[in-house]
Amino acid sequence: MIHGHVTAWALALILFFVALSLHSSGKAKAAKIVQMILRVLYLVIIATGVGLLFMLSNISVLYILKAVVGLWIIGLFEMILSRATAKRKTSVFWIQFVIAWALVLYLGFVELPMSILNP
Ligand code: HEM
Repeated sequence: MIHGHVTAWALALILFFVALSLHSSGKAKAAKIVQMILRVLYLVIIATGVGLLFMLSNISVLYILKAVVGLWIIGLFEMILSRATAKRKTSVFWIQFVIAWALVLYLGFVELPMSILNP
């Protein structure tokens, strides 16, 4: 489950930048297709995340925070892509993007116990 989760968000992060670069080079159709795949990955990220939550016997507040920040990142993926497509300003969302990623990586890898590094 955790491997599926990490694979899904890592792939989503790559595809997010692929979609952005396709947008900026004017390849709107290709960008749209990548964005569709990205949306399927959101579902995989959420499904595996919820699956991980169900594996817990008692959920602490940090787990809730981790899930909320994860959802926040998915929202930011969508906001940045849609605003980039509409040629609107994205700087406020990029700042949030950096903060949310720092938080989610800290919570996921440092604070919370499950890990892909454990056998
Ligand atoms: C793009 C969004 C997301 C990112 C980047 C992300 C990132 C991560 C990372 C880095 C870990 C730790 C992996 C490890 O220690 O090997 C993790 C674990 C986890 N994630 Fe996510 N996540 C996202 C979305 C979600 C969502 C939406 C949920 C819940 C609905 C969720 C629930 C969990 C849970 C329960 C764990 C296990 C925590 C632990 O004990 O280490 N995640 N995630």
